[in-house]
Amino acid sequence: MTRYLLVFLGSFLCACASENKNTKEFVYAEPSEMAVLMQQMFAKMQETKENVMHQKDIGPFPDYIKNIHSATLTNATFKSSDFRKLSDTYVQYMVKTYTGEKSQRKENFNTAVNSCVQCHEIFCRGPIPKIKKLWIN
Ligand code: HEC
Repeated sequence: MTRYLLVFLGSFLCACASENKNTKEFVYAEPSEMAVLMQQMFAKMQETKENVMHQKDIGPFPDYIKNIHSATLTNATFKSSDFRKLSDTYVQYMVKTYTGEKSQRKENFNTAVNSCVQCHEIFCRGPIPKIKKLWIN
């Protein structure tokens, strides 16, 4: 299981690293706070998707996702105005998903997923196919 998890995490790292000039340094580096947070967000979004699809309770807003504003990145130059704008949109729609009208949950969730994809189109294309699977049709 651990082995599988490592391979799984490694595939994300390589996916992002392929866009990075400093590939070697990047691949062997510890995952950044942001990378760890993204993994948590991804897992949480998978769980939320299931619950939204089955009209179940999704629990309280996961407050830790606000750390997207402060977590340290592998590459500090990522923190541009685009990053700030898209991370604001993401958090805003996650808040709406959790606290807004139940009838709007799916739309709000999909808008949040969209901001994941938009940000990744700029900074780190590797995980995009995985992120797109979060979409609720
Ligand atoms: C505001 C921009 C932004 C948003 C929004 C965003 N990401 Fe990311 N994501 C990044 C950046 C930048 C990295 C690279 C982090 C690093 O290496 O420090 C990353 C890394 C990742 C990784 C790879 C982590 C690793 O192990 O290297 C995954 C998976 C991921 N994001 C999934 C998601 C998901 C799912 C969402 C939405 C729920 C999301 N991201 C929203 C910018 C964003």
